Amino acid sequence: MSDHELRVSKIRDGTVIDHVEAGQALNVLAILGIDGSEGFGVSVGMNVPSDRLGRKDIVKVEDRELSQSEVDVLSLIAPEATINIVRDFEVVEKNRVTRPDGVTGVLSCPNRNCITNADEPIETRFDVVADGVRCDYCATILRADIAEHIDV
Ligand code: CTP
Repeated sequence: MSDHELRVSKIRDGTVIDHVEAGQALNVLAILGIDGSEGFGVSVGMNVPSDRLGRKDIVKVEDRELSQSEVDVLSLIAPEATINIVRDFEVVEKNRVTRPDGVTGVLSCPNRNCITNADEPIETRFDVVADGVRCDYCATILRADIAEHIDV
């Protein structure tokens, strides 16, 4: 897309999460724990035309970089996403997310009887499987609702 067609302004410093599957932008914000009260600039584009994806969402967060565990969880809901680090208006780093084998300590298990919900000093661990993520302790599978179970 040429510059004059940009839907969302360029940012000076921060992170652009691009090529997010259309419909997932608000879940990306949930994963990053952003609701606007933090004070940094956040721009969201939804259903933006994309050569590669047809339609995509895009999230730009100013003055903030992402932790590896945030990127790991993002990859579960936005497997095609590109994470661009922007400094002084230039993209200085661009990485495709990669699907991790599992995520530790970032998702809570929805099964109330799971040992991870029993007040024991146990960290949650989910394995990434074809149709979602599976709790290592009780085998409950999280699918579309992954974003609702994020602890980070
Ligand atoms: N971007 C931004 N602010 C900047 C620089 C880039 O918001 N100062 C955004 C662009 O709008 C784009 C993304 O960051 O959505 C990646 O920028 P760039 O690498 O320049 O674009 P493309 O080459 O089109 O990226 P890709 O090849 O990953 O599609």
